[in-house]
Amino acid sequence: MRTFDNSTSSTDLFRTPRVFQRMLVTGGAGFIGANFVRLVEQEWPQCEVVVIDKLTYAGNRENLAGTKAKLVEGDINDAQLVDDLVGNTDVIVHFAAESHNDNSLKDPSPFITTNIMGTFTLLEAARKNGVYFHHVSTDEVFGDLEIGAPTKFTESTAYAPSSPYSASKAGSDHLVRAWARSFGVPVTVSNCSNNYGPYQHIEKFIPRQITNILDGRTPKLYGTGEQVRDWIHVDDHNLAVLDILSHGEFGETYNIGADQKDINNGEVIELICELMGRPGDYEHVADRPGHDQRYAMDATKLREELGWSPRYTNLREGLEQTIAWYTNNRSWWSASKESVESTYASQGQ
Ligand code: NAD
Ligand code: TYD
Repeated sequence: MRTFDNSTSSTDLFRTPRVFQRMLVTGGAGFIGANFVRLVEQEWPQCEVVVIDKLTYAGNRENLAGTKAKLVEGDINDAQLVDDLVGNTDVIVHFAAESHNDNSLKDPSPFITTNIMGTFTLLEAARKNGVYFHHVSTDEVFGDLEIGAPTKFTESTAYAPSSPYSASKAGSDHLVRAWARSFGVPVTVSNCSNNYGPYQHIEKFIPRQITNILDGRTPKLYGTGEQVRDWIHVDDHNLAVLDILSHGEFGETYNIGADQKDINNGEVIELICELMGRPGDYEHVADRPGHDQRYAMDATKLREELGWSPRYTNLREGLEQTIAWYTNNRSWWSASKESVESTYASQGQ
């Protein structure tokens, strides 16, 4: 069993960072995980990265093209495989999940299997092998906030998840903290707001609208479009994860959010339409049942204790760059567009 230096204090910003030679990234062929692997190669070139990914509909081998990462196609519920991989790493960074709320409303089952059981399997391997475990989670575990209220989620906000997706992520967060307290597994947890950027699956809000326009379709806004999300560029999320890995305190949770002024879905869709030369050209479709109204993250702890701050402070610029990526990478998304849209159409969305 390895021992870990946990001598960080909240004022100790400049202590010796943890340095990793080997890293296991779960879900590294998905949106955030693949961007993370690319960032690790850039920022920590000494670190060898192994990815375990089941390559579900959301995972794509191509997302790792050109990286040095070794991709192991496998399920995080495969205890033997997971144990072998964890026994040969210094740290687990856990992104793998079923991640789309709308899918969880149609069939919650894989959300329970992957997000809860899969996290359990990884934690058991981390416990057995004495390996540091970083858990990537979401602001959605906190439920939602009132539109227009000044309140934000902090690390001590009580959990109140609304959907099968957010409930399964909440369950996994609780398991991680229990494994730290009961078994002494060195863990950190991060809860981040909605991400956008390259390689995001086109079922999600922002890439769906961009590719709708690129494909000659009409962008689709759920319900009234008053709901607020706290958008953050995927690189800013992943830079925060690197900061936590290198000098976060074991046992601690860090909220990640870019402190955007509240912007609702209607305003985001207007902005995308304007940036793509189709101002005002979108339609309202059926709302999501149980739709969370507003998310807003207070990331003061991350900023003050770990010195993180976002690089993308202007959503318009981040969206322009994201639109350019989808425009230049049509072959990455075009084959799945028809089936994604026909599934949505069957739901009136
Ligand atoms: P994604 O759906 O794009 O990618 C998930 C990846 O996990 C895919 O590559 C998929 O193949 C893989 N996977 C799924 N089930 C698996 C299994 N059983 N075994 C191995 N691999 C499996 O998701 P994402 O948007 O990149 O999200 C990554 C993580 O970040 C998730 O844990 C999510 O809850 C969290 N998160 C996402 C956001 C967001 O805005 N997308 C915000 C905060 C937190
Ligand atoms: P989504 O990207 O699914 O993320 P989350 O459910 O985790 O917030 O959706 C973001 C917001 O956009 C959410 O309020 C639902 C809304 N939405 C639309 O208005 N139209 C769409 O086509 C989609 C997919 C989402």
